[in-house]
Amino acid sequence: MLSLPRVARLLAAVPRRAVIARPISTAQPRRSDALFVHRDTPYNNPSIPFEFTLENMKQAEEIISHYPKQYKKAAVIPLLDLGQRQNKGWTSISVMNYVAKLLEMPPMRVYEVATFYTMFNRSPIGTNFVQVCTTTPCMLCGSTNILNTVSEHLGGIKPGETTKDGKFTLIEVECQGACSNAPMMVINDDFYEDLTPESTRKILDAFAKGEKPKVGPQSGRKTSENSAGLTSLTTKPYGPGEHCSPEFS
Ligand code: FES
Repeated sequence: MLSLPRVARLLAAVPRRAVIARPISTAQPRRSDALFVHRDTPYNNPSIPFEFTLENMKQAEEIISHYPKQYKKAAVIPLLDLGQRQNKGWTSISVMNYVAKLLEMPPMRVYEVATFYTMFNRSPIGTNFVQVCTTTPCMLCGSTNILNTVSEHLGGIKPGETTKDGKFTLIEVECQGACSNAPMMVINDDFYEDLTPESTRKILDAFAKGEKPKVGPQSGRKTSENSAGLTSLTTKPYGPGEHCSPEFS
């Protein structure tokens, strides 16, 4: 076994350059397709007015009432979500400022939340927001093929882009919690699972026509039941008392 001073001497003998140059990881850096820094534009600047509709205001008051008065800022996420829905699916600077005012919070606190959670879109999106999951379980079940199919079927748009007719925006997302039904994508608020390139194209065509295709697994199975069929509990389970002596059965 090497003594500590000997290890230190050996380490000191390693050329400094070699230590510095050793790569920690060889993985390719991936840049996000989302916008996190605000820049004023004609369609996104603080002078554009925003306020909740009467109906949404009622809903906002209801949400705020769930929290103690001194903690009403805890309602920031549901209120930003409400604002995003009213603002055609994206959270503008005016939405953030309005929510900050309503919850009596410094606007910076709201910007921090909206830029941290990727469910808040910081730039306009198409009518249908397509999120393809490409995390490991989905990737192992063919999500790369699904992503390519969506991209090709929507005229070659890449993740982060919107079709020219404004009908679809495509993004790539991390695990959506439906791994057992991989590969999957989310369109607007619904999950489409067990996808194949064919079923993916059909779903996109339906959305393009303004229809709402059947949500959930496209393979015909129910929810996340075993795709290989029934493999356990195939015989009558023995009930309580089955292996007991007669007086206990
Ligand atoms: S990895 Fe795609 S839903 Fe979990």
